[in-house]
Amino acid sequence: MSIVIAGASGGIGRALFELLNKQGQKKIFCISRQRLRDCDLQVDLSESSQIKLIQEFLSHIQPTEVYCCAGVLHENSYMPEKSLNQIYDEWVYKSLSQNVMTHVHLAQALAPILSKNYDLKWLSLSAKVGSIEDNALGGWYSYRMTKTALNMFIKNLSIEWSRKSSNIIVASVHPGTTDSALSKPFQRNISPEKLYSAEQTAERLITIMQNLTAHQNGKLLNWDGQLLPY
Ligand SMILES: NC(=O)c1ccc[n+]([C@@H]2O[C@H](COP(=O)([O-])OP(=O)(O)OC[C@H]3O[C@@H](n4cnc5c(N)ncnc54)[C@H](OP(=O)(O)O)[C@@H]3O)[C@@H](O)[C@H]2O)c1
Repeated sequence: MSIVIAGASGGIGRALFELLNKQGQKKIFCISRQRLRDCDLQVDLSESSQIKLIQEFLSHIQPTEVYCCAGVLHENSYMPEKSLNQIYDEWVYKSLSQNVMTHVHLAQALAPILSKNYDLKWLSLSAKVGSIEDNALGGWYSYRMTKTALNMFIKNLSIEWSRKSSNIIVASVHPGTTDSALSKPFQRNISPEKLYSAEQTAERLITIMQNLTAHQNGKLLNWDGQLLPY
């Protein structure tokens, strides 16, 4: 087994690395914009110019499990929009770049490696707020729109890659509200029992990965493995 964690220095990515390491996994490789270990790759996944470099890295690893954790909800002067007049082009494009294109570029880098019977399980960290059917509150335009786009990307990818190999399963997953820099500004409104630690979330994601079945290919999953509506 060879595991890749992309977006590895974030709250959930780091917890995944630490737990997998603790569980004795020997082959864990990270992709991050931060400098980590010598065996990891420091790269900005939103840059398509980096795909070749990522491809080279992945070709040595031949991953069998991929966790793509890259994503953004807020940044310095941009907080999630509450209404239409708070939508700024620049932030929509940046959200698209970090919530969708990071996952697209990672997949594009991996694609040439996937041979006929290649074994692969891939989880993209998405969000329940990207579910159109589940949206009862509105707001958070950029995050919702781009997570919805990520879900569609994963659906498409699952179809394309299932033609390459029946041993490939690709799904998006809602990790649950997790204590990290991403959720920090919104934790006041969350009851403590619904705010999960990064370790708890990592444990759940590893369980989902271990139990992924072909039935879940292309689906949006909740942190407990249940299907969420698109
Ligand atoms: N925390 C929650 O409550 C929650 C709820 C629902 C969904 N999610 C999703 O879960 C994922 C992880 O969230 P988190 O809570 O761990 O947030 P976080 O601590 O802010 O981590 C997000 C990570 O995304 C990576 N990233 C962003 N842009 C990137 C880029 N251009 N290239 C490479 N990596 C990039 C960064 O990794 P590097 O710094 O390593 O590059 C960053 O650490 C996100 O996709 C988020 O939308 C989180």
